[in-house]
Amino acid sequence: MARDPVRVLVTGAAGQIGYAIVPMVARGVMLGPDQPVILHMLDIEPAAEALKGVKMELIDAAFPLLKGVLATTDVVEACTGVNIAVMVGGFPRKEGMERKDVMSKNVSIYKAQASALEKHAAADCKVLVVANPANTNALILKEFAPSIPEKNITCLTRLDHNRALGQISERVNVQVSDVKNVIIWGNHSSTQYPDVNHATVNTSSGEKPVRELVADDKWLNGDFITTVQQRGAAIIKARKLSSALSAASSACDHIRDWVLGTPKGTWVSMGVYSDGSYGIQSGLIYSFPVTCEGGKWSIVQGEFSLFREIL
Ligand code: NAD
Ligand code: LMR
Repeated sequence: MARDPVRVLVTGAAGQIGYAIVPMVARGVMLGPDQPVILHMLDIEPAAEALKGVKMELIDAAFPLLKGVLATTDVVEACTGVNIAVMVGGFPRKEGMERKDVMSKNVSIYKAQASALEKHAAADCKVLVVANPANTNALILKEFAPSIPEKNITCLTRLDHNRALGQISERVNVQVSDVKNVIIWGNHSSTQYPDVNHATVNTSSGEKPVRELVADDKWLNGDFITTVQQRGAAIIKARKLSSALSAASSACDHIRDWVLGTPKGTWVSMGVYSDGSYGIQSGLIYSFPVTCEGGKWSIVQGEFSLFREIL
């Protein structure tokens, strides 16, 4: 029997990440190859023409899974009935800025959009905040949309997680799919802690700890960490624009694993509300290692004595 379409909201859909992510959603990268989707795309009035153009291209691409496209500048229309909300709308930082420097502009957007989501989205809507500062915007959204369950509001640190996997795979010269269980702790900012202390590589003689294979603690405790922490800035320096294809792809990874589940024995990093685990203040939106099953995430517990020592 054909499945009902899932309604996916992308805000800031006429922007860089929006332009990269909507074809991924329409092609099944986010929700799987058998799941029809209806895209709701929101942007602001000055971008309305560009947004229309994105809609035209989506139609022209003839994606079999795409059962409808709404392109609008009306936040209520955009939020109505959505099952997944990917909140990208906002302003990116420029070279030389920190992510918190876009706080005053972006946080006000999340205050305003929280109530539209709360009133008009599907009751079980899963929310992923991408726009920076991502943890703060998600926290604001949670505070201003109190009837959305806390567990349904998350922010993107999967890009940092994927960056860490990429750095290890390059260093050890293995496929990125053979590296697993890195962790991003904290904020999507330069204060995050990329942790490889429990990460492994799948080799022909079984799973080996990353620390053993890299065999260079100076690099793992130094350049590896700063490279991941500063990768966003390095991309802005090189492209004169912030990351977009990797952000879009990682946002799809985040939602796919949340909805469809993480593979057995694998954890991923998600910015989620803290229940006090690992001594992190309850209620903050913080990146933890999580596993997902049945559409729910759970913080991985009890594995990280080393992290406790660091704290
Ligand atoms: P962009 O400027 O290319 O696009 C942003 C879009 O948002 C624009 O089309 C703009 O018109 C729209 N917009 C602005 N205010 C809006 C509102 N109130 N409602 C709806 N749309 C609105 O920027 P981008 O490169 O796509 O980046 C978007 C955001 O994502 C930035 O804040 C950026 O820093 C952040 N980002 C986060 C991560 C992460 O890992 N969390 C990664 C990359 C980028
Ligand atoms: C990133 O990490 O690439 C994004 O947060 C964009 C930025 O400002 O660094």
